[in-house]
Amino acid sequence: MIETIKRQLKDKLEQHFQIEGIVVEEPKKGLADLAVPLFAFVKAWRMSPMQVYEKFEPVLIHDEAVDQIELTNGFLNIYLKRGPLASAILTMIHEQKGNYGNQTIGNGISVAMDYSSPNIAKSFGVGHLRSTVIGNALKNIYKKMGYRVVSINHLGDWGTQFGKMIVAYQKWGNEADVKKNPIMELQKLYIRFHDEEKENPQLEQDARDVFRALEQNDETYTQLWTWFKEESLREFMEMYDLLGVEFDFYTGESFYNDKMDAVVEELDHKGLLKIDDGATIVDLGEDLPPALIKRTDGATLYMTRDVAALLYRHQTYNTDHVLYVVGNEQILHFKQLQAITDLMGYHFNVDHINFGLVLIDGKKMSTRGGKFKRLEDVITQAIESAKEAIAAKNPNLKDQDMVARAVGIGAIIFNDLKNEKHSDIDFNLENMLKFEGQTGPYLQYSSVRIASILRENSLDMDHVDYASYSENDYFEIIKLLGQFPYIVERSKENNAPNFIARYILSLAQSFNSFYGKHRINVEELMQKNANLLFVESIQTVINEGLRLLGIQSLSEM
Ligand code: ARG
Repeated sequence: MIETIKRQLKDKLEQHFQIEGIVVEEPKKGLADLAVPLFAFVKAWRMSPMQVYEKFEPVLIHDEAVDQIELTNGFLNIYLKRGPLASAILTMIHEQKGNYGNQTIGNGISVAMDYSSPNIAKSFGVGHLRSTVIGNALKNIYKKMGYRVVSINHLGDWGTQFGKMIVAYQKWGNEADVKKNPIMELQKLYIRFHDEEKENPQLEQDARDVFRALEQNDETYTQLWTWFKEESLREFMEMYDLLGVEFDFYTGESFYNDKMDAVVEELDHKGLLKIDDGATIVDLGEDLPPALIKRTDGATLYMTRDVAALLYRHQTYNTDHVLYVVGNEQILHFKQLQAITDLMGYHFNVDHINFGLVLIDGKKMSTRGGKFKRLEDVITQAIESAKEAIAAKNPNLKDQDMVARAVGIGAIIFNDLKNEKHSDIDFNLENMLKFEGQTGPYLQYSSVRIASILRENSLDMDHVDYASYSENDYFEIIKLLGQFPYIVERSKENNAPNFIARYILSLAQSFNSFYGKHRINVEELMQKNANLLFVESIQTVINEGLRLLGIQSLSEM
């Protein structure tokens, strides 16, 4: 809302003076509500600050939002009519609840998001966890801005490695073991294949032959592959269930098997294919290495499937924009994908949302050789620790399991999303589970404090003293609340969930320091209602911010 006033005043000034680029900004805490720096005009118009001020004043002073203006140190300071503004912001939040901040700028345009996308028969890595968490938040944020989001899990379920897996299973595998512990067992077989392959080069040829046959729908191999996939998916689904993440489609790489010939034909038809040393490639010029489309033996590749997937998404979901939430190591791959479809004459936006590593004690975290065997164990550990903390804090709490789950998962998600996505993140369960500091539990706890106030008192919207909001301690927070829609918009523009994370953190901090200073449940009824409406609005915005990040808010903990 302040944003709107800011723009309104800026437009007024610009129209009046027929110039562009006049700055109307929010100065640091307490100085004024808005300010216009006058230096540029002092210089350009060769006037004193007072003279410039006198020209600006009549344009602004009659605006209905403006209460007073004054000149201080070369700034034109604006004080807004705080009561009406506060009342407008808070009643809006009260009425719109979680819909506060919803926008229509997306205009129903379709955006496809490709995230999580783990490789079957392999463990769900920490990189996949980051992709899942970031992708899920972006999906919520885009939807709030009015986009139609199609969420896709591009499972890594195709490729020569499945030839290897099948050969390994047929030679050394055992059904019961795989059933008991699918991913670990299959991974073991895969590692064994690599070890034995060094002694026995024939194995590699066998694996290629098997994959070729699989691509041509060989029945036995398809059966084995389907089984591997189902077993792996079962494990992945448990993880998604814990994280509260859902996808519209689980169309993995194998889904494109029957769509590959058409792609290769199209590339050929458009004169883009070259044979290089028996392999089929697309030459991407000086700046990029050529992209491999078919191996010497005719098998397709990761890239071929991504081209097919992009064309399919364009046709099926009517979208030109695909966000790929994938780690930094695939930067080149997505540049090539963009280049290939450009050469094909399409105008797709291949939007690679890349992100940094996960570190434990400053070292790259790996679920392989590390302390944890599976990522699921890490998550379970977080939930266990949250449970202990809650049982100690509030032993009579109902639904302790549900709360522990929300807190443990929330801690992991927030620890990831509070950082700029390109930076490496630190994974320290103890730190992220603290109830103080920049953590998920701190936010959930702040919201719970408000929930308990609201449980004990009921808000009467007909008797609210709006004038009391003019006081700085209130008004600073109300301004912050007014910024929420704008924060969500910027977080969408920058594909940066951390904008929202940081924002709700500072909102919760402001609330907690306010709460340390002021009583909410006061005698005077109008003031009490004003206080209740005020904290209710803070709760609404914190909870909606958490929801956008994919974190559950709580009413008790
Ligand atoms: N399965 C891949 C991996 O784990 C990620 C896939 C990302 N999406 C895509 N369309 N290439 O590295």
